[in-house]
Amino acid sequence: MELIDLRGRSFLTLLDYTPGEIGFLLDLAAGLKRMKCEKAPHSICGGMNAALIFEKTSTRTRCSFEVAAADLGMHSVYLDPSASQIGKKESIKDTARVLGRMFDGIEYRGYGQERVEALAEYSGVPVWNGLTNEFHPTQILADLLTIRERFGSRRRIKLVYMGDARYNMGNSLMIGAAKAGLEFTACAPEKYFPDRRLFDRCLDIASGTGAELKLETDPVAAVAGADVIYTDVWVSMGEPEEVWAERIADLLPYRVTSSLFGMAKDSCIFMHCLPSFHDLGTDTGKKIYEKFGIDCMEVEDAVFEHARSAVFDEAENRLHTIKAVMAATLADPLAVGQIASRGR
Ligand code: CP
Ligand code: NVA
Repeated sequence: MELIDLRGRSFLTLLDYTPGEIGFLLDLAAGLKRMKCEKAPHSICGGMNAALIFEKTSTRTRCSFEVAAADLGMHSVYLDPSASQIGKKESIKDTARVLGRMFDGIEYRGYGQERVEALAEYSGVPVWNGLTNEFHPTQILADLLTIRERFGSRRRIKLVYMGDARYNMGNSLMIGAAKAGLEFTACAPEKYFPDRRLFDRCLDIASGTGAELKLETDPVAAVAGADVIYTDVWVSMGEPEEVWAERIADLLPYRVTSSLFGMAKDSCIFMHCLPSFHDLGTDTGKKIYEKFGIDCMEVEDAVFEHARSAVFDEAENRLHTIKAVMAATLADPLAVGQIASRGR
């Protein structure tokens, strides 16, 4: 088995990784998941330190990085928007050069992709993208692992993404699908279609992997034969409150309802990166209900809670895949390769 050495690399977008490297990260995540279940120690980054910068809020990503760091024998330092100088009193370039002197790796969640790129350029250590406006690559690894667990690695999978396909999740799922050889449909009104240049770039990747990429405006046509229906919130972190009215009007026909879910394959699974507005259990959900009279947004509660909803498997897999990214980019490639071979 060929040794795949990712040590020293940053993880900013899946565009930078080959299909083989992505497959290796999934093997590694599966191996690490097995070890975690078997309570087998895997502290292969002992003595290292990670900085976790969050300019936007998080539950899954933050907890995954912190638990992964601990399991790998690392120490982590969490920096929230109010507890650091980043952006306000100190540029990203200067922050990168400071943190690069103290830490072995840096996670960044925040706004433009150029910020995480600048951190990677100037810190001199691996930088991991924990979500930017444009991309959410660690989420996609968790999604690909979940799909692999559900369907095995050889079957051709049709994944339909419903909703705003121009933002981090739509972009990254399309890239992930192109790299992993999936059949991918982004279903949305045309103004929510992905950037044409990115779409063309993904088509180019798809020509080498056998993936098929489509854009569709009709939800009923899109879900025919789907193995996976995926959606995300209609308004993302950092977007202004004022966009809610327009998004609801535009995207309501793209909500994943029980009736739409029932038009896909009988084995179709539901996926969502979370958090999700599927009921009135959140402050935002209640506010939207009072203002617009709708009791759920991108997905109906019955689909979210369906026996074929995979959302909590995805959430768990954030831990194992983020750990794989940290280990692969920091630890001894031989030790990493041995764990990956347990996940094949
Ligand atoms: N899916 C995801 O990134 O969740 P958090 O915002 O909770 O990190
Ligand atoms: N598109 C969402 C994803 C959250 C994980 C956001 O950026 O808020």
